[in-house]
Amino acid sequence: MLRHHGDVEARPGMLDFAVNVQGVAPPAWLRERLAARLTDLGRYPSSEDDRTARVAVAARHGRSPDEVLLLAGAAEGFAMLPRLAPRLAAVIHPSFTEPELALREADVPVTRVILERPYTLDPTLVPEEADLVVVGNPTNPTSILHPAETIQALRRPGRIVVIDEAFADAVAAPVGIADESTASGAMPAGRVADEPESLAGLSAHDVIVLRSLTKTWALAGLRCGYALGAPEVLARLAHGRPHWPLGTLQLEAIIATAEPAAVAESRQHAHRIAADRTAMIDRLTALGLDVHTPATGPFLLLRVPDGALLRKRLADRGIAVRRADTFPGLGPDHLRVAVRGAAEVDPLIDALNAALW
Ligand SMILES: Cc1ncc(COP(=O)(O)O)c(C=O)c1O
Repeated sequence: MLRHHGDVEARPGMLDFAVNVQGVAPPAWLRERLAARLTDLGRYPSSEDDRTARVAVAARHGRSPDEVLLLAGAAEGFAMLPRLAPRLAAVIHPSFTEPELALREADVPVTRVILERPYTLDPTLVPEEADLVVVGNPTNPTSILHPAETIQALRRPGRIVVIDEAFADAVAAPVGIADESTASGAMPAGRVADEPESLAGLSAHDVIVLRSLTKTWALAGLRCGYALGAPEVLARLAHGRPHWPLGTLQLEAIIATAEPAAVAESRQHAHRIAADRTAMIDRLTALGLDVHTPATGPFLLLRVPDGALLRKRLADRGIAVRRADTFPGLGPDHLRVAVRGAAEVDPLIDALNAALW
């Protein structure tokens, strides 16, 4: 159950609310950038590409290039966590289950910290002896955004805090906030003004931020992401990795999506997602469904009567939604739906209307 992902629920031809990737393919400009590198595939990926990618990511987050470890998706970062040799890892739930699975498969002792609704993070719930803590922000599947200060309160001497920010680039700052904080300089150290509560800009010896490029850029099939952290911690994560861990196209995608124009485009995505989410919450709530709010991610957590039956009825109508009972702390009546625009939400609402009553 820990390895269940929405992709198995969205069979070909279904309207997909189960997977959180935005769109079905990368934007045309990004496909062109990648296509232009196809002729380079006869050569090994160059160290110049690797450096250019780390420089670009570092500039995007206000870090230095040696604080960047390029990854084949955030998932590769989870698989590396056992190399930190934690004595006890605490995983905050309900949350994405891959980090827990990677740790358990490496025989790392894992304790679950299960937050009750409304899923507010309380750092005192984490056992003091945990020397590795993994938390998602915003959290899949609750769509909760924990305050950066609360995440920082997880830090302890001898402990590493890993923040899965796979969806941080999909979170929009409330209108006006980014401008004000930048102008006043009031944003606490380590906070990126326009990605609320992100700690990607925080240089600290005990914090690792994992980022994914697969959702916003529809690059799930290419596998692209990176870790941000202290150079010595990143070196421990990367120990034993094969030479040329990322291919030329992965490196090109990382370079392209870190450029200022791409970052600006991702900020626009985030604002569109926020508007779509508000509209979707209104429509789902009007149907009498329990939508967990406040929601900040590109997905919504629902609690419905008889989730398994509803999921089947929606599937019979060609609509895939994500079961959420595979997330520790949630049950069969929890479902997760991706935030989509009106053209896709219309058929979802019609199908829900037919399936619920
Ligand atoms: C919260 C979360 N983190 C990380 C990942 C994995 O991201 P990537 O595709 O970059 O490996 C996912 C994928 O579903 C996710 O939902």
